[in-house]
Amino acid sequence: MADARQHYAGLLADVYLWSVSRRGDPFARAAAWLAAHGLDGAATYLDLGAGFGAHALPLAQAGKQVTAVDFDPTLLAALRTAATRAGVAIEVAEGDLGAFVAAAAGRRWDVIVCAGDTLTHLPAMADAAALIAAAAARLAPGGALALEWRDSTEFTAEGVARFVEVGRDARRLMHCLLEPIDADHLRVTDLVTEVGPDGPTARISDYLKLRLSPSRVAAWATAAGLRVAPARVERGMTTLVARAP
Ligand SMILES: C[S@@+](CC[C@H](N)C(=O)[O-])C[C@H]1O[C@@H](n2cnc3c(N)ncnc32)[C@H](O)[C@@H]1O
Repeated sequence: MADARQHYAGLLADVYLWSVSRRGDPFARAAAWLAAHGLDGAATYLDLGAGFGAHALPLAQAGKQVTAVDFDPTLLAALRTAATRAGVAIEVAEGDLGAFVAAAAGRRWDVIVCAGDTLTHLPAMADAAALIAAAAARLAPGGALALEWRDSTEFTAEGVARFVEVGRDARRLMHCLLEPIDADHLRVTDLVTEVGPDGPTARISDYLKLRLSPSRVAAWATAAGLRVAPARVERGMTTLVARAP
C-alpha cells in the first residue's frame, strides 16, 4: 500500500484537479467556503495542503498575503502556473506540513487553513493532533484555524455500495473504493481508466485515511488553547473553526 505522498505522486496528483472539477469550479467553491465561515477578512493566510491552490489563488487575487504548503510537486506546479497567469504572488513551500509548521517557529498567520480533507491524509492520529497543536501556536492573536475534512467515522457501506464514481468524461473514468479497516482508518483505492490512441489503460493505487470525528478534532484544538466553534457539515464535509485568544 502507498503512503499519501506516494499515492499522489503515482496516481492522484495527475487527475486531482480534473476530479474535483466534476462538481463545479473548485476555486469558486473554496472562495465561497472561506466567505461562509467568515474567513475572508484577514491579511495573512497559511494554506496547509494547498494542492493546486483552490483556496490560495482566490485569496491572493483578493490581495491577501498567502503561504501555500504541500508535498506534491505536480499540484504545486499547477498552483504556480495559476498564480503566474493571474498575476499574483503566492509564497510556495514544498514539503511536509508538520515539518513546515514546526520550522516556522518565528512566524504568525491571521488564518491557517487545512481544507479539502487534507487532515485525514496525515499518517497517524498523533500527527493530526500534533499539526493542530503546532498550527495553533503559529496563529496571530485572535487568529483562526479552519479545518475542513470528510468525517468517515460513521461510514459502514458494504458490497457494491463501497464503490463511488468520482467522475467521467469521453476519455477518463475514475472510481474510488472505500473500506473501513478499523475504528481509525479507511482504506481508499483509486482506479483511473483512460482511453488513449492504443486503447484503454488503468491505474490503481490505495492508501489509508484517518477517520476523524468532529469531537476528536475539537478536543485537540481545545487542548491547543483554542476556542472552538460548533462544527458545521455541508455537502458531506465537516468544517471546524477554532480561534486563538
Ligand atoms: C485532498 S487534497 C486537498 C487540496 C486542497 N486543500 C483543496 O482543498 O483542494 C490534500 C492535499 O494535501 C497534500 N498533503 C497530504 N498530506 C500532506 C503532508 N503530510 N504534507 C504536505 N502535503 C500533504 C496533498 O498533496 C494534497 O494536495
